[in-house]
Amino acid sequence: MVQFMERNTLIIGIVIIIVLIGAVGAFFYFNQPTQEKVLVMGTSADYPPFEYVAENNTIVGFDVDIAKYIANKYGYKLEIKDIPFDSLIPALQAGEIDFIVAAMTITAEREQQVDFSIPYYNATQAVLIKSDHADIASITDLYGLKVGVQAGTTGEAWVDDNLGNNVTKIAYQRAYDAITALKAGQIDALILDDPVANYYASIDNEIKLASLHIDTGERYGIAVRNGDTQLLNMINEALREMFENGYYDQLIARYFGTSSTLLLI
Ligand code: ARG
Repeated sequence: MVQFMERNTLIIGIVIIIVLIGAVGAFFYFNQPTQEKVLVMGTSADYPPFEYVAENNTIVGFDVDIAKYIANKYGYKLEIKDIPFDSLIPALQAGEIDFIVAAMTITAEREQQVDFSIPYYNATQAVLIKSDHADIASITDLYGLKVGVQAGTTGEAWVDDNLGNNVTKIAYQRAYDAITALKAGQIDALILDDPVANYYASIDNEIKLASLHIDTGERYGIAVRNGDTQLLNMINEALREMFENGYYDQLIARYFGTSSTLLLI
């Protein structure tokens, strides 16, 4: 009898120890930080419909959906950092972000600092004015006016190169601040990419597109750090895939309501 009880106690003891070991093991197993791969996108979320802050405070848009497709394809989680446009390339170089998707035009000057993907969208420059402002039909119509631009953009470069001292240029870090300034009469005209100008003109009847159109023939690219060929190849492959499988056209329809304006070469 005594022997029997001792054996039973021993068995119970062993079972308790096994259960405890299992529990401790399970605790550590399930509390491990999940080794999720993350891609950090940098953008200036002030450029609808490419990138903007939605009512629920998330960053959405055409560029965001493109970046999500790229991240998903390779099993990455996408993280987005909202950085003023003129600080995006420095942030990329400093390693704060992995890539830039920000309606960024591929230019020779930027090519010195970053590597660009294949182009994914075509744009030109347009002029926004208040609805009650006289039309601006030629470059000289801008002379003597206060002209707004977003700092560090191709729009600003165009104003510097083509208007020089004939206008008073005011540069804003954020495109939405330039829109606010236009509506408040602090600037007379705002020069920005035509798809974004179209978007603002269509949602806000206080502002309209001027008939002057500046055909700069720009192409947007996704930027990675110089020499980051692995990520660049992944991005190009994902872009080509979405051009072919219809996803790109779906995004064009969703955000622009038209067919593709990209000239595929
Ligand atoms: N395409 C122009 C450029 O590359 C303007 C881009 C502005 N982008 C933005 N997300 N605010 O300079």
